[in-house]
Amino acid sequence: MNIDVENISEVLLSRFDGLDNKADILKSRELKTLYSIIPSLPEAERAIFGKKVNELTLKLKELVEKHQQKLEVPEPIDITAPFDINQNLTNANQLLTSDNGSQHPLMRELDIVLDIFYRMGFSAIESRIIDDDFHMFGSLNFPEGHPARDDYDTFMTKDKLIAPAHTSSMQNRVIQQNKSELEHGKAIACVIPGVVFRNEDVDSRHDHTFYQVEGVYVGKNINAGNLMATLRTFLEEYFGRQLDIKSQPFYFPFTEPSFEFALSCPFCDKKGCSVCSYSGFIELLGCGMIHPNVLTQAEIDPDVYSGFAFGFGLDRLVMMKYDIEDVRNLKSSKLEFLRQFS
Ligand code: PHE
Repeated sequence: MNIDVENISEVLLSRFDGLDNKADILKSRELKTLYSIIPSLPEAERAIFGKKVNELTLKLKELVEKHQQKLEVPEPIDITAPFDINQNLTNANQLLTSDNGSQHPLMRELDIVLDIFYRMGFSAIESRIIDDDFHMFGSLNFPEGHPARDDYDTFMTKDKLIAPAHTSSMQNRVIQQNKSELEHGKAIACVIPGVVFRNEDVDSRHDHTFYQVEGVYVGKNINAGNLMATLRTFLEEYFGRQLDIKSQPFYFPFTEPSFEFALSCPFCDKKGCSVCSYSGFIELLGCGMIHPNVLTQAEIDPDVYSGFAFGFGLDRLVMMKYDIEDVRNLKSSKLEFLRQFS
């Protein structure tokens, strides 16, 4: 028989580099053929041929092993050592202590916001992340089937519980719970931070889940001037500078009149910049005088008392303060982004 082991050896060796799984070379058809013909050879040739085939197999095994060793470069790991996984450790001096966690920028800003309102005489209560139809709609003067309900359409469970689209769903509770303030001749002054949910296409300025801060103030002879002054005082304190404010009529079922409220851009002093889209003003929030029906639902006589309410997105406010270009960064868990605030 005229089979040349050298030739086959060359063929197999030239194939080796291209193999994904190097061990496949030991299962190759050619090698199997070599073994299969050994028994049929004349005795004189058998020993020499067999030896050559064995040598070839050993050589291939060695190659496979060498390759595997190269892949398994052992890394010395000291699991007790504090170190930064982002560093290439070349010497022990580069070992770092582990990072400490810190408060999330949104929560830190919320503390600052609440602190300003505390100093203005407001108390705070957190909103609910699941609520019922009455608090989300009925108590807020959205009659059943009213088209304005569509603007606040989110999820509803089988038991008709709703993921609230705004913190206004707390207005009725807050007014009812603090009614005694009015009886003592004081005013109800509450801010309500909480998570809200929107049926929203997500982009750099919109998220489906975000924080809102609601404000509710009820007393005697409260007017829209009080509302504007309260918002201006808060915002000037928060941004640490004087601001111009602007309002224009808007529609919310639960306030009458309702306003869209804008402040002069804290970055360019109304000159126009990328933050305010070159308009000099930034629309920040919705607000208005609490609708008499909302007061009645909370068992307050609208002929005796009046009040204002406002609601703003905390994420938006923080974005504005720090000129953050994408709202999604705030929930991205990107440490590089978050560390800027610590
Ligand atoms: N709840 C309104 C919104 O999220 C904002 C608002 C709050 C308007 C209070 C008026 C009074 O769209």
